[in-house]
Amino acid sequence: METLTLTKPDDMHLHLREGDVMRDVLADSARQFARAIIMPNLNSPVVSTGQALAYRQSIIENLPEDIRASGAFEPLMTLYLTEKMTRDEIIKAKESAFVHAVKYYPAGATTNSDSGVTAIENVYPLLEAMAEQNLPLLVHGEVTDADVDIFDREAIFIEKILSPLMDNIPDLRIVFEHVTTKDAVDFVKQGSEKLAATITPQHLLLNRNALFAGGLRPHHYCLPVLKAEEHRRAVVDAATSGNPKFFLGTDSAPHARAAKESACGCAGIYSAHNAIELYVEVFEEKDCLDKLEGFASRYGAKFYGLPGNEGSITLEKNQWQIPDSLPFGESEIIPFRAGETCQWKMR
Ligand code: NCD
Ligand code: ZN
Repeated sequence: METLTLTKPDDMHLHLREGDVMRDVLADSARQFARAIIMPNLNSPVVSTGQALAYRQSIIENLPEDIRASGAFEPLMTLYLTEKMTRDEIIKAKESAFVHAVKYYPAGATTNSDSGVTAIENVYPLLEAMAEQNLPLLVHGEVTDADVDIFDREAIFIEKILSPLMDNIPDLRIVFEHVTTKDAVDFVKQGSEKLAATITPQHLLLNRNALFAGGLRPHHYCLPVLKAEEHRRAVVDAATSGNPKFFLGTDSAPHARAAKESACGCAGIYSAHNAIELYVEVFEEKDCLDKLEGFASRYGAKFYGLPGNEGSITLEKNQWQIPDSLPFGESEIIPFRAGETCQWKMR
């Protein structure tokens, strides 16, 4: 049987939620990944180091027993940037050694982003403090103006926000999260060494037709929204190129089935159940399996200044059926590619 062994990968963009449901999703990520950058967009956002440490503790308590005991999964915490944050909070975050980045959500851009930033200039002093502290900024790179076409929001964000920001604070390290367009890929490639990007499985595997295949597909709806095929191809080329500026971040974002299958469904795709297998498919399809380990296990750690992982995972080329649904507290979630065949299986 064909097998593939990789240094244990890291997921550099993950939503774990909180409360009862966390335990159900956390085990999926902890089985595959050594570490994950944990997004702070809880119902009550994680805006202080104190909250980040409490959230970290609850993640550790909800790990499967064997993984907790062996310390095999490390949550890397982030803060949610608000206009009320202080420079002291940035310094405290850095000194904690548990907070690895600060996340910028434009107000209203996505799930739980109401406390986000209304104008980037309002947080420039905080961003300068982050540059001084060498604490990276993670950006949800979409403008929110209702008059900008939803498919153009990432490209306009580059022009209006990201490019001026990089000119004004050149020392700030930035991760352009979940890039979806050729514009974003080109911008990251041409940008300074301070700029990197994460890439999700859905933006590698699907184009926007998947939202409307035979009818409306709420489980393919995420933000940034899926883009046209030419953009998907550019994202695949970036991921499989071996360029260390592009690394793995699933953006796995679980929502209860009823919240997705609704007249106003939530954005977010749950990919954590078989995330690494999905990426393997993409790299195999491109005949670039030799490029996967850098993307999945090395480049993200390097950007964040973290040591390499010790262990490894092994995948077998072995078909299996992805479940139709998975438990999510009292509800259920529909995983990415529910009911379909997966070509690889982690041992
Ligand atoms: C994320 C969520 O549900 O928290 N949703 C998504 O579609 N990606 C938020 C986000 O990262 O935009
Ligand atoms: Zn996200």
